[in-house]
Amino acid sequence: MGIKLQPAGAEHAVSEVLFSQDTIQQRVAEIGRQISEDYAGKQLVVIGVLTGSVLFLSDLIRHIHVPMELDFVSMSSYGTATTTSGEVRLLKDLGHPIQGKHVVIAEDIIDTGLTLRYLLETIHARQPASVATCVLLDKPSRRVVEVDVQYRGFEIEDKFVVGYGLDYAGLYRNLPYIGIMKAE
Ligand code: IMP
Repeated sequence: MGIKLQPAGAEHAVSEVLFSQDTIQQRVAEIGRQISEDYAGKQLVVIGVLTGSVLFLSDLIRHIHVPMELDFVSMSSYGTATTTSGEVRLLKDLGHPIQGKHVVIAEDIIDTGLTLRYLLETIHARQPASVATCVLLDKPSRRVVEVDVQYRGFEIEDKFVVGYGLDYAGLYRNLPYIGIMKAE
């Protein structure tokens, strides 16, 4: 009581809808179909990076039509609300061994690449049969380290985006679309 909540529509925060719910769903379904083809007959583990990938991941795996396991990691990176510092830490490790299995890492967005690079090193050390990365959004102009991305939803410009799992200071993850954050 006493706390005024912002409307769920986030009219105050978003200046423009970049990808609508329909556009996202179509692209995610395509990626799911591609992964299903590529991993037929292989022991697949999809690893979600908490928290941002959760909406993407839950839609994506419903379009994966081969047997698969699901696991999660949680990473932290220090920095401001809109930029990564480059210092990355593993907060929650995998629940199950991945040795000899084929891993697809699902991440909401690749920006500098530092988070994914750190995670790839950690995953490779567990001796999986293969590792691929799957990102919904890619901001290539911001890349600091090179990271191979096998599955990519959309390339975007250097704009801070929210919604469909992506947050600003912990908010707006629940928006069903992806929007550009209003400049403050
Ligand atoms: P990287 O380590 O710089 O590649 O950053 C990856 C992480 O930064 C993502 O998992 C997001 O949490 C966050 N991030 C980068 N760009 C955005 C954005 O535009 N909106 C929301 N989060 C972002």
